[in-house]
Amino acid sequence: MAVFAVTAGLFAPVAATAQQADGERLFQQRCGGCHSTEAGRNRIGPHLSGVIGRAAGSIEGARYSDAMRDSGIVWDNQLLDTFLAAPREMVSGARMTVAVPDADQRAAIIAYLESQ
Ligand code: HEC
Repeated sequence: MAVFAVTAGLFAPVAATAQQADGERLFQQRCGGCHSTEAGRNRIGPHLSGVIGRAAGSIEGARYSDAMRDSGIVWDNQLLDTFLAAPREMVSGARMTVAVPDADQRAAIIAYLESQ
């Protein structure tokens, strides 16, 4: 696993475009049912347009748990990675139960979100 992570790091620039396409597909499959990337369009979960750099629980009109609103988190790549690996371990009481155990898939999804 560690060896693979190093190798993936080396080839990251080359793989960026493929990763982005992958991220979009993964997002549609794993997140799109509950989240849109269009500002102002909340589903069961808040929209994720511009989520990187955004304070957790801050979207007007979205239905958040108190845990998310009070978390004090400002989303960056690292925190998103931790959250997506195990949402309720990071934010105890969060209403999102879906996790992405695969680190490469998380990276692809986060890269996609960064582009939105
Ligand atoms: C079954 C519905 C569902 C799915 C699928 C889902 N989420 Fe969520 N998500 C939610 C809900 C509901 C919340 C609000 C949680 C809370 O307030 O406790 C949330 C919150 C979030 C937040 C925090 C947003 C903010 O404004 O603070 C992020 C980031 C997030 N989800 C990313 C994702 C990603 C990326 C995926 C796909 C891997 C995903 N979610 C899949 C329902 C879902």
